Amino acid sequence: MSIRKSKNKKSFIKREKLSKPQYEIYSWGWRSEARFRTAVCGRRFGKTFLAVEEIRRACREAVRLNINTDNEIWYGAPTFRQAKRVFWRRLKKGLPQSWLASKPNETDCSIVLKSGHVVRCVGLNEYDNLRGSGLWFFLGDEWQDAPPEAWTETIRPMLSTAGGHALFIGTPKGFNHFRDNYIDGQPGGEPDCKSWKYTTLEGGNVPADEVKQAQRTLDSRTFEQEYCADFKTFEGRIFYAFTRDANSNDLGSIRAKAYDPAKPIELGIDFNINPMSCAVLQNHDGADYQIDEIVIKTSNTDELVTEIRNRYSRNGSLTHITAYPDPAGAQRRTSAQGRTDISILQGSGMRVIAMSSHPLVRDRVNVANSRAKSGDGARRFFVDPRCKHSIDSYERHVYKDGTSEPDKGTGFDHQFDAVSYLLFGKYAYKPPQQHAINIMGR
Ligand SMILES: Nc1ncnc2c1ncn2[C@@H]1O[C@H](COP(=O)(O)OP(=O)(O)O)[C@@H](O)[C@H]1O
Ligand SMILES: [Mg+2]
Repeated sequence: MSIRKSKNKKSFIKREKLSKPQYEIYSWGWRSEARFRTAVCGRRFGKTFLAVEEIRRACREAVRLNINTDNEIWYGAPTFRQAKRVFWRRLKKGLPQSWLASKPNETDCSIVLKSGHVVRCVGLNEYDNLRGSGLWFFLGDEWQDAPPEAWTETIRPMLSTAGGHALFIGTPKGFNHFRDNYIDGQPGGEPDCKSWKYTTLEGGNVPADEVKQAQRTLDSRTFEQEYCADFKTFEGRIFYAFTRDANSNDLGSIRAKAYDPAKPIELGIDFNINPMSCAVLQNHDGADYQIDEIVIKTSNTDELVTEIRNRYSRNGSLTHITAYPDPAGAQRRTSAQGRTDISILQGSGMRVIAMSSHPLVRDRVNVANSRAKSGDGARRFFVDPRCKHSIDSYERHVYKDGTSEPDKGTGFDHQFDAVSYLLFGKYAYKPPQQHAINIMGR
């Protein structure tokens, strides 16, 4: 960090310097071959910090080139609230008092400069209401979350009069418009676009230890997206970190563990009538091994309990077993006599960890994937190759085309659901009142 002194002593502000990668992006500003810039960066890279410097320069350029004051300078975030929360204070701190014509307008988050130019924070979800002025510079922050129509229908046309420039910054989110912007800026793309990609670590604001910690706790794909700034498609296989070879066949030194009658047993259960689905696991040295599967066609929970008893009771007892069932079983009944699926399990003598509410599918999927392969490459979930229904399910359970909604029509959902209730229950579930902590919260 170094301190730059403004020439005007009165507006002396302690300023931190741009980091090297921030400067690389910055230095390409206002060149014709980089009229539309795209910076794809990991979390906490310093994107918003860079935004302040960009806006300052856009103000200076507007004044220097005597740009018509109808052309405004905008910071856009996905919503106005977000723009205000993330940027408004930083913007006011970033512009010297001596540049301002009057006090900043706190209601619409705008600032009028002495030159007459207007700097404004806008919410891109209301892009229809944004038309009116021209634009000299547009900076879209968290651009991956902005509606792409905001650009095509509103902002792009506004830049036309004055030949304004734009910078999009954000973190990848699947193969969406932000990725298109990135590709346009790469060699072979558009002649007036330029793009960069930097990891969180390269940003220099997050210590390596912290990144390592995230790598251990997030599943590999989320880590690569959020911290390595890689565009990942989440379409396709749901249990993508699971591979038949690495998690089942070729376990090398780890090897699928056989049933150990001295150790406790854990069950993941998805209540269905057809088929009733259950994954049977044991934990060895911190890793979970699926040693068996129970799949019964046209069945009910009583029959499942009977089957568990046949295979795994010890001296007639089931107390060594912990079950993690689908929370919907608290209401649903696959048996008669008014008993719920969960009450039947409880009546059998097993310990039952019944989640008080349904985990988000996405969270359940993330936990399962992080156990199959975490961001640091460690695998902590293995399956005996004899569990054929389960492996089929883990390999073939997919999202519906182009959505993030699991396809429930293939029949491959049940075993995955069963095992993921267990893995979520064990590793992510926070008992009632405590809502799931959103580790990805921005
Ligand atoms: N060049 C820099 N010098 C000093 N601090 C910086 C720099 N860039 C970013 N930071 C600080 O790092 C943190 C993360 O920056 P921010 O811009 O909010 O990241 P992002 O928008 O990428 O999540 C903030 O506290 C910010 O002030
Ligand atoms: Mg930011």
